Amino acid sequence: MAFSDRVFSGIQPSGDLHLGNYLGAIKRFVPLQNTHDCIYCVVDMHAITVWQDPKKLHRSTLEVAAAYLAAGIDPKKSIIFNQSQVVEHTELAWVFNCVARMGWMSRMTQFKDKAGKNSEKVSLGLFAYPALMAADILLYKATHVPVGDDQKQHLELTRDIAAKFNNDFKIDFFPITEPLIAGSAARIMSLRDGSKKMSSSDPSDLSRISLTDDADRIAKKIKKAKSDPEPLPSEEAGLKDRPEADNLVGIFASLSGRSKQDILSEFGGQGFGVFKPALAELAVEKLAPMNKEMARYLDDPKQIEDILRDGAERASIIAKENMKQVRDIIGFVK
Ligand code: TYM
Repeated sequence: MAFSDRVFSGIQPSGDLHLGNYLGAIKRFVPLQNTHDCIYCVVDMHAITVWQDPKKLHRSTLEVAAAYLAAGIDPKKSIIFNQSQVVEHTELAWVFNCVARMGWMSRMTQFKDKAGKNSEKVSLGLFAYPALMAADILLYKATHVPVGDDQKQHLELTRDIAAKFNNDFKIDFFPITEPLIAGSAARIMSLRDGSKKMSSSDPSDLSRISLTDDADRIAKKIKKAKSDPEPLPSEEAGLKDRPEADNLVGIFASLSGRSKQDILSEFGGQGFGVFKPALAELAVEKLAPMNKEMARYLDDPKQIEDILRDGAERASIIAKENMKQVRDIIGFVK
């Protein structure tokens, strides 16, 4: 069966949105609206796999939606909604809990990283999380999923779940989804340690640029970012074994929409004393308008709630239809 092109992606409302979320995901969501039918979700049910303060969860959900809107996602053209308003996500997730194998789930590196030595104490939801993510995508039969590199393994699992369901029931029902992971923004690293991914759970606020940081904080964080004493190379190969330099050049490249080689042709031979101020200026220029727009949307939470409700109603139409077919395929009596 030919599946028509549909994009789905989601972001957890579980803390500060940062530059990695913006460059690896949100910024890339926007142009896809010109070529695809797009659904962008605030995945609040994923967020509760670890404890969330109810007031903060509510606020963070509005913040992620505000970031979508401020970045240029058009809520009339695309669907923007929060996951918990479309109950079929959990229903399909249960079906997928019964399709996915324990061995597959046990190999998920993000679970191992998050649970650490504490795996007896974390929630069952955290373990089952990738089956819910597969349900998010396949509930809409999405064919393309733009994400950062850290989600690659979850998307491979989504493909395995779709293939096993199709095979078990001898039907070509779910598409084998293509991940869209590319470019210098696929993995933005911590500003304090080039071997660690930029993340909202890093205890150091200096490790990340938050989308709510003002111009002064952005400039301060870039000034304090870890670098090395060598000048920048003129060729990309010279970034090898220089993770912090590689990361800062990658951030410059993705903020400006240019290639790393192009940046090195301009800055090769210069030290960080020249490069960092240029990067700070660029980051402020690109992020300040987004920051202002987010604040403007957040001034009117009711408007955001209306957009999410309208999005959920439109998403529900697709979800209900597909879930009805899943129930028939499985043999549930209606
Ligand atoms: P989450 O909320 O951790 O991150 C949201 C998006 O931001 C990307 N990202 C990064 N990209 C580059 N560099 C980084 N340092 C960086 N940090 C985060 C993530 O790859 C992601 O694209 N499981 C998902 C949410 C989810 C989802 C889905 C995504 C739930 N259902 C269905 C796609 C489709 C997550 O926790 O992302």
